[in-house]
Amino acid sequence: MPTPVPTPPTALPDVEVAAGTAGGVPVAVLTRTADGPALIGPGGDELTPEWAEAVGLTGKAGEVHRAPLAATARWSVGIGTGAAKHWRTAGAALARAVNALLENQPDSGQSLQVVLPDDTDAEQAGWFATGLRLGGYRFRVTGDTPAPRLRSIRLVVSERDRRDRIAAEVKRTGVLSWATALTRDLANAPSDVKDPAWLAKTAARVVGKPKGLTAQVRDEKWLAEHGFGGLLAVGGGSSRPPRLVHLTWAPPGAAGPHIALVGKGITFDTGGVSIKPNEGMHLMRTDMAGGAAVIAAVAAIAKLGLPIRVSGLVPCAENHLSGSSYRPGDVVRHYGGKTTEITNTDAEGRVVLADALTYAHQDLDADLLVDVATLTGAMKVSLGTRIGGLFTNDDALAARITAASETAGEALWRMPLLDHLAAEVPSHIADVRQCPPGPGAITAALFLREFTGGLPWAHLDIAGPARADRSYDDVVPGATGFAARTLVEFVAAYAS
Ligand code: BES
Ligand code: ZN
Ligand code: MN
Repeated sequence: MPTPVPTPPTALPDVEVAAGTAGGVPVAVLTRTADGPALIGPGGDELTPEWAEAVGLTGKAGEVHRAPLAATARWSVGIGTGAAKHWRTAGAALARAVNALLENQPDSGQSLQVVLPDDTDAEQAGWFATGLRLGGYRFRVTGDTPAPRLRSIRLVVSERDRRDRIAAEVKRTGVLSWATALTRDLANAPSDVKDPAWLAKTAARVVGKPKGLTAQVRDEKWLAEHGFGGLLAVGGGSSRPPRLVHLTWAPPGAAGPHIALVGKGITFDTGGVSIKPNEGMHLMRTDMAGGAAVIAAVAAIAKLGLPIRVSGLVPCAENHLSGSSYRPGDVVRHYGGKTTEITNTDAEGRVVLADALTYAHQDLDADLLVDVATLTGAMKVSLGTRIGGLFTNDDALAARITAASETAGEALWRMPLLDHLAAEVPSHIADVRQCPPGPGAITAALFLREFTGGLPWAHLDIAGPARADRSYDDVVPGATGFAARTLVEFVAAYAS
């Protein structure tokens, strides 16, 4: 039996917005950079210039200090210049500091309160809450009793109208953080537990049954009857058969386009017959991070009640090695009939996405397609680990995705779909070649484009930012949850 993993979604700290401070709850004081000495925010009367000098206070974003021992104020946290991203950094650093103290001093308090300065707007407060909720995220499979963690934060805003605006945004960002944490949970789950059936079943459970949302899980029998040859080929080498997760959000009175979100759901990627080197292979348990982002985004869209029709498709398979694996040289027949000449079984993501993209435009009648995938190592080489690649055949869609990614605080960089490389996609023995020669992230995108039916389409290659090996912003090492918030903000923008 594999060790049971924590049941997703991980509970995040509760952030409430209140009119006044509560007695006996530790206070964190905000500090800010300035031309001269750092500025000390409300509640910071005990933080004297001598103390500031002794700790080297600068107010820069994410700088956390313990306040003097006898003071009511317990912490100081820098918000830099007060830019939105600085607030996120501040919240995350504070959450990490509180958790680190709780590891050593379990009685040091799991609640906090912060008086927000009078000029704090809803966007800044929303980002602060996001940092507080996600910065202390941790995924561990352990037999020990875990140490206590930061549990609740009260943001104090005395003025009523501002408080209402801030409370609404803090509540909305709570749904976004929930989606990020769920994406992380699913991607972090080890692959001894996480097979395609587990991923599909867990997806169906966590999205729940809000009115207007349905979750269907298709098994290998259904996939065979319906001709999902790409997904069956990739999943064929594993003793744990593939699944297709199909989420439908169809709220009454939906307007605007029907958006299909498609996510790569490879629950583990050995490379198959074209096996990967051992070094780094363990990281391939997060190769379904794009699928997890789609699952979490659709669930969040339903929680927010956004009046837009959305379909979520996640082809789930384990790319494994056995006597029943697919081979280089095989010709795979995808859903819809198009054929692919396989040359490298490690380029499995595009093979399963091809089936799902075709299903979305042929059978679901989608108006536009967005896919998200940890698709290529080449993308990670191009942009590193903090930015995702955006490919699209539609400039208006590019503008919308870019705007959503900025609102979500998840950076994307647009990549070109080059014509002279598209000429390399046709195959002599099949309709298309799985791995046309040339720059790997671009040729993978050009392959996918063959399965989009000419619809407006965007492809997010998140091989880099889906994982982190250090903490930054709201991110901690492991799966980052990248793209879940971007997808939600992208859909939300059609509703406003
Ligand atoms: N899942 C990998 C891509 C990947 C690599 C994600 C590193 C995250 C970190 C994908 O299935 C893969 O193996 N792609 C191959 C494609 C190649 C064989 C054409 C690659 O990028 O090497
Ligand atoms: Zn892969
Ligand atoms: Mn692969």
